[in-house]
Amino acid sequence: MSGPGLGPGREPEAESGPGADELVPGVEVEVEVGPVAHGGHCVARHEGRVLFVRHAIPGERVRARITEGGPGDRFVRADAIKILRADSHRVAPPCRYAGPGGCGGCDLQHVEIGHQRTLKGQVVAEQLSRLAGVERDVVVEALDDEGGLGYRTRVELAVGTAEAPEGAATPVLGLRRHRSHEIVPVATCAIADPRVDEGVRESHQDAVTEPEELAGLAALDVVAAAGEADTVVVEVPGDADGRPLPTPPLPLTELVPAGDGRREARVDARGFWQVHRDAPRAFVEAVLEAAAVAPGERVLDLYAGVGLLSGPLAQATGEGGQLVAVESDRRAGGHLRENLADLPQALAVTARVDEALGVSGRRSGRGGGRGGGGRSGGRARRGGASSPLLPPSADVVVLDPPRSGAGREVVEALLRLRPRRVVYVACDPAALARDTRYLRERGAELVGLRALDAFPMTHHVECVATFAPSP
Ligand SMILES: C[S@@+](CC[C@H](N)C(=O)[O-])C[C@H]1O[C@@H](n2cnc3c(N)ncnc32)[C@H](O)[C@@H]1O
Repeated sequence: MSGPGLGPGREPEAESGPGADELVPGVEVEVEVGPVAHGGHCVARHEGRVLFVRHAIPGERVRARITEGGPGDRFVRADAIKILRADSHRVAPPCRYAGPGGCGGCDLQHVEIGHQRTLKGQVVAEQLSRLAGVERDVVVEALDDEGGLGYRTRVELAVGTAEAPEGAATPVLGLRRHRSHEIVPVATCAIADPRVDEGVRESHQDAVTEPEELAGLAALDVVAAAGEADTVVVEVPGDADGRPLPTPPLPLTELVPAGDGRREARVDARGFWQVHRDAPRAFVEAVLEAAAVAPGERVLDLYAGVGLLSGPLAQATGEGGQLVAVESDRRAGGHLRENLADLPQALAVTARVDEALGVSGRRSGRGGGRGGGGRSGGRARRGGASSPLLPPSADVVVLDPPRSGAGREVVEALLRLRPRRVVYVACDPAALARDTRYLRERGAELVGLRALDAFPMTHHVECVATFAPSP
């Protein structure tokens, strides 16, 4: 079904178009683009229906093609396929794979980099206002002056299949389309660190000349770790449905800022590490500033990964203090213990955070372990529940949960440790806002917020939020 066919010169009021129930995939409609929303799209309306429009900028008028949704859905998704009135911040995407129907990795390549940060700040502010009742302007800070390109130290290339003319399926390598399993073959990635991009280019060439080499694989991970001279390409096997299977351990060396120098950290090639080249420095600085740890204090680092934040926090508390780091993934937990081994004040616990805090949650992989020769943790108790994994109190709690956030139970449990500061590192503004509401309901006020542009060209943004619990 085609759209109303209005040219740019026609008055918007004069348009007719598909009715509200006719907004189904493939239909085109002209809309005024409203505010940016969480998730990389802007909000528009047509005949009372809400459209989430990608590749648009607030204030523009665009022709949008519906990509998902239909009658009965709360909203439909759409791509801006023609810009009828452009915002002054619109630019030509630096990458040829960006745009409607292209690679789904970058949502904001059509927006000037400074304005990307303005829009992301608006999203964080809107989420905090709507979900947590916090009114605050949010400024998103650049991590470098590279214009938002060439920063990713890790890129996962997906392997899929393309139908060959004779009907046989040929493996292809690339990046996925937005909300799709389809793969866009890419010869280069503009946001990849140059070392990683070289690996992407070589992998693409190999996939074109010898696609059969990709058979049985789900992905190729291209990783340039700061402490390694060589870029690593990890072959990730797939199951019968193409889902990734575990890979053998492959420890790499990353570098963590520490005092005047840098510490080495071991991390598996497929393990969690911040992807922006400058994120380790920026996050450590922001967390240390927010936590303001005094020597001798007891600090918890929850969802610690391999200890990017744990090492510097342990150094800040010194040998007279204590740092307890909690991580549930066994392989990451092993590296965490190894990375803290030279710090006698540090204790690494392999457990789920909810389990370590003694609140409900699925039990899994409890390993426990010592970071070094230092102190042992105490015993956390509350209302009859007890956890042998954590001490009964903490001066500072740092948490960096996955995208889903920490949740009410964890937030309430960590406040029972009576910390003077909670520092929350968040990769999802909605999850941060929900957990901010739980913290505020228990008397912990948001007293500081930094937003860091750790994912330029995409809608993602990292926040470091500081809370002061009521004494
Ligand atoms: C966003 S990463 C942060 C890691 C670390 N702070 C860093 O910056 O490198 C979150 C970490 O939490 C771990 N994780 C996820 N769910 C968890 C849970 N319920 N309990 C403990 N750790 C968890 C993941 O394995 C991952 O290492």
